[in-house]
Amino acid sequence: MDLLLLEKTLIALFLAVVVAIVIAKLKGKKFKLPPGPIPVPVFGNWLQVGDDLNHRNLTDLAKKFGDIFLLRMGQRNLVVVSSPELAKEVLHTQGVEFGSRTRNVVFDIFTGKGQDMVFTVYGEHWRKMRRIMTVPFFTNKVVQQYRFGWEAEAGSVVDDVKKNPESATNGIVLRKRLQLMMYNNMYRIMFDRRFDSEDDPLFVKLKALNGERSRLAQSFEYNYGDFIPVLRPFLRGYLKICKEVKQKRLQLFKDYFVDERKKLSSTKSTDNEGLKCAIDHILEAQQKGEINEDNVLYIVENINVAAIETTLWSIEWGIAELVNHPEIQNKLRTELDTVLGPGVQVTEPDMHKLPYLNAVIKETLRLRMAIPLLVPHMNLNQAKLAGYDIPAESKILVNAWWLANDPAHWKKPEEFRPERFFEEESKVEANGNDFRFLPFGVGRRACPGIILALPILAITIGRLVQNFELLPPPGQSKLDTAEKGGQFSLHILKHSTIVLKPRSV
Ligand code: HEM
Repeated sequence: MDLLLLEKTLIALFLAVVVAIVIAKLKGKKFKLPPGPIPVPVFGNWLQVGDDLNHRNLTDLAKKFGDIFLLRMGQRNLVVVSSPELAKEVLHTQGVEFGSRTRNVVFDIFTGKGQDMVFTVYGEHWRKMRRIMTVPFFTNKVVQQYRFGWEAEAGSVVDDVKKNPESATNGIVLRKRLQLMMYNNMYRIMFDRRFDSEDDPLFVKLKALNGERSRLAQSFEYNYGDFIPVLRPFLRGYLKICKEVKQKRLQLFKDYFVDERKKLSSTKSTDNEGLKCAIDHILEAQQKGEINEDNVLYIVENINVAAIETTLWSIEWGIAELVNHPEIQNKLRTELDTVLGPGVQVTEPDMHKLPYLNAVIKETLRLRMAIPLLVPHMNLNQAKLAGYDIPAESKILVNAWWLANDPAHWKKPEEFRPERFFEEESKVEANGNDFRFLPFGVGRRACPGIILALPILAITIGRLVQNFELLPPPGQSKLDTAEKGGQFSLHILKHSTIVLKPRSV
């Protein structure tokens, strides 16, 4: 046996004994941990529960151990809460105590140990970053400035689909075109830029690097090295790839977007207040010395992951559900035709006149939540929750998917039925006004992007349904809606081929 491995195993065993003694001592001091499966030395509960702690597996564990339970994953403590009351406690009542984010070996690389906003601990840096990002990204003014761009992008998707004869016959993987649209929606806001086609070399590069970033961060492959520090040397190869991807990505953001924008601004002689895009505001904050150049690049990094994929996955889920529920699709089309008039294309200000469209979107976010466990929270200091002691730096997962799919709180939750948002749940909104429905979280770390995501979803889904009949491909009666979960994400496993038959209006 490799001597190094033997040495590590001995160290691990020694540590396990130390941990066991510490736990015994803490128990002696009436340290009351939440319930959970009994851990074994070194591995904790890891071998019992496995790597894939997706929302469904965690729901099964909650049924066994209760609305709050603790898993010891090697050295890491993982606390899972699964009731609206406890979600309120974590996100609202004790929002400061539980308002930090966990680190892990991979996220540390991609975020420069929390120099970004999404994955940084609760404190001064987070507050500053969130403030700096608000004006350029998260206000109604931004929506009003960019909604014409989103409408044009959705219009261009419709045109491209109509031009492609395959769409109406064998069908196309619509997601690919929608991905280009989402990049354009967000790159217009960030840099006043767009990509002309799916083959644009810069878009191809960007998409590949973002895809790698996502895959590497959401994978379960690196758990062992994260949970059991003595095994970390075996992760060296994986972490090296992460570092390379991170480096290449930030360099790409800098060379092709941030620096380009700087050049452009320096050649403009007059004040161009009205035409400012997000990065101009962010660079101003850098000039004032509020943030440094790395922070600027991490803001770009955050928007690339937090905004584009989540919204794209939600659009994809919405379309899949509409294909699989033609009666709901028809009802939505009738609403659009009746309220707007046949052929009149939906725009952002129409949203409040289209209750069924809003209900379809909410139902999609409920059943197919893109971030079903929210972004993991963390308590920097030891805390109390539901009468239990929560060790400092525990990873806290709120099983938001279960809160929105628990039959104790929702009528037939497994059904895709937008009508529920007119009937029994008519007051429930996506903004966190009800702790059973938190697709964007709520409280201090809630998603600030909701203000952009909802209109983009409405415009895109609305226009597709107005212009096409959306159908499964020939020979198939339904789309496969199997799920693929990650560390905290959820998307459709197979990007479906969809037939889009243009309507004759
Ligand atoms: C359908 C689309 C989206 C969904 C479902 C979604 C969902 C979420 C969720 C669940 C969180 C974590 C909340 C928590 O930890 O308590 C989050 C955080 C965040 N989201 Fe979104 N999001 C979406 C779109 C967007 C967009 C379009 C943007 C930006 C333009 C964005 C930016 C962010 C940021 C910056 C955070 C971190 C907030 C913080 O840590 O303080 N999201 N999102």
